[in-house]
Amino acid sequence: MEKNMADRLLKWYDRHGRTLPFRGTKDPYRIWVSEIMLQQTRTETVGVFFMNFLERFPDVFALAAAREQDVLKMWEGLGYYSRARNLHKAAQMAVREWNGVFPADYEKLLSLPGVGEYTAAAIASIAFDLPHPAMDGNLTRVFSRLHGIRDDVAIPSVKRKLADIADREMPRQRCGDFNQALMDLGATVCTPGTPDCDRCPLKGMCNAYREGDADMLPVKAAQKAPKRVDMAVLLISCKGHILMKKRTEALLKNMWVYPLAEDTENKEQVKQAVKKMGLEPVDTIKLCDTRHVFTHRIWQMQIWHCPVRLENKTVAGQWFNLPEMAALPIPTAVKAARQEAVRIMLEEMQFVRLNSKRFSNYQPTAYAYWESWMQVNKDKGSPQFVKEHTPTYMEMVLRGHASAGRDVYSLQVGDKVVGVMVLDEAANEICTLYVQPDVQKMGIGTRAVQFALSHLDGTRDMHVTALDHVPQALRMYKKAGFVQVKDHRLLNKTYNVWETALVRPAGDKR
Ligand code: ADE
Repeated sequence: MEKNMADRLLKWYDRHGRTLPFRGTKDPYRIWVSEIMLQQTRTETVGVFFMNFLERFPDVFALAAAREQDVLKMWEGLGYYSRARNLHKAAQMAVREWNGVFPADYEKLLSLPGVGEYTAAAIASIAFDLPHPAMDGNLTRVFSRLHGIRDDVAIPSVKRKLADIADREMPRQRCGDFNQALMDLGATVCTPGTPDCDRCPLKGMCNAYREGDADMLPVKAAQKAPKRVDMAVLLISCKGHILMKKRTEALLKNMWVYPLAEDTENKEQVKQAVKKMGLEPVDTIKLCDTRHVFTHRIWQMQIWHCPVRLENKTVAGQWFNLPEMAALPIPTAVKAARQEAVRIMLEEMQFVRLNSKRFSNYQPTAYAYWESWMQVNKDKGSPQFVKEHTPTYMEMVLRGHASAGRDVYSLQVGDKVVGVMVLDEAANEICTLYVQPDVQKMGIGTRAVQFALSHLDGTRDMHVTALDHVPQALRMYKKAGFVQVKDHRLLNKTYNVWETALVRPAGDKR
């Protein structure tokens, strides 16, 4: 092999290396978090999770001090949740043993929970420029093609051979770039299946290219097919609450799921399963089928709704209202069930009209209004303007609407206020609609708009005004048949606040 493999590769990397959100830093904390995320997740997916995770836990101290449940919540949707649990433990260890300073030492990095040889090498090379090849799937593929390794790469002696080759090729400088260049080459040029050899900077020195069998390499023994498990997912609801269980099994440990029952396929079996939990089902309704494929398992799921009369204390789990459920770390495997659970809870949503009388209790609704208002507007006015908007002030605003003859609705699910809406029948207008931050993106706004459409006069134009910096509201109104009628209007020049007036034309039948 010619000597200049690393030179060629690094030259290629300088021109064609990918720009990724976790690159361009030498901060070992950031590199460590990104490498853990990248262990089993694609680079495209990791980007947004990485940014959100760092915003929430900007350094190792913040992560070490967090509750495990909150770390798992930030990991929700990434899968392989043991990574998050280990990350949390490792942060605590790094703080306890190294005062939060990551050592420039491969062996010490390897002692962190969740850090194997690959990840220790990636951190050591990228953060500290230490010469350790990060032997992931990409490096294995590139080196087995480059050097014509035609034995099963899962065999330990073959693995060692590849690692020795990588050690020999590792340059003295830019060790992190060398590893990342190989990862990029493997991801964009020397891809699994048929590689794009014409674009490869190393094709002149590639054994597989010469032999014409690059698409056959690396050699891997066939993997065992995952085992299918049939189960019922039980959405057990009662008065705006839903029953959930924290998993103790290794798969999805400490994540929250709805009760799962194996060997439960028909109405009668589902009823018995619920009874076995000490609960009395009023009904059992089959909703849909769904599946989730893990590495070694396939969950084939039937989703059932089982309303029960009483929220008996049950060993089977804990009851949660909608905002509480929204805060739990729930795995993608039961995402469809979660959507159904939200739908079920929203079916019970109530629009409680507050009257203008003094004794009417506005407080919880005013507080919800204040929280939602703050989320949307806290950076959109002078400190004085923001400070004026206290919960008491919001209560006054709502009472003012009511005394002027407008309808003030407290949006409630079970025992929780989830938002506020004000309708003006005379003006045929939605004056105010706010949804609590912790229950957004669940369809509450859309349900409220449906309610408004049925309470306002469809034979006349309906009106609403939306803030431009809340694009999701604008989208929601447009979906419900509102159209923009005026150009955007500037409300506050200093803070760049704009609003848009929308109208739903008389007689729209949507
Ligand atoms: N996969 C794992 N680590 C990576 C990195 N640092 N860059 C690109 N892909 C990766």
